[in-house]
Amino acid sequence: MSDTDKKLTVCVAGGAGFIGSHICKRLKDEGHTVVSADWKKCQYFEDSEYCDKFYLVDLRVLENQKIVLRVATGFSTWLLTWVAWVSFSLTIL
Ligand SMILES: NC(=O)c1ccc[n+]([C@@H]2O[C@H](COP(=O)([O-])OP(=O)(O)OC[C@H]3O[C@@H](n4cnc5c(N)ncnc54)[C@H](O)[C@@H]3O)[C@@H](O)[C@H]2O)c1
Repeated sequence: MSDTDKKLTVCVAGGAGFIGSHICKRLKDEGHTVVSADWKKCQYFEDSEYCDKFYLVDLRVLENQKIVLRVATGFSTWLLTWVAWVSFSLTIL
């Protein structure tokens, strides 16, 4: 199995947003396990269309970050996409 065939578990912060949800959907369509965390529901897709698990949480709260990451790391590997992270970071600034 090459590195490109390897399936990941990906956690996307701000995953219900425009960029985040489309990244989630692309990764899910490629067979990766996708955890989306956002403080609002996605308006572009049903949960089952773009992620495997959705958390409706405020990610400014450390305890919420821990809960989401604990689940994601429980699967295997996690990755916070910098695009979505920067997006929601800019939103709260
Ligand atoms: N059809 C279109 O062309 C279209 C549609 C939507 C957006 N846009 C544009 O694309 C740009 C990029 O979109 P984007 O994806 O960066 O922005 P976004 O606002 O869609 O995504 C950011 C996500 O972060 C989430 N978020 C912010 N703070 C959070 C917190 N504390 N806890 C949890 N989640 C939190 C928001 O709820 C949101 O879902 C936007 O600025 C917008 O102008 C275009």
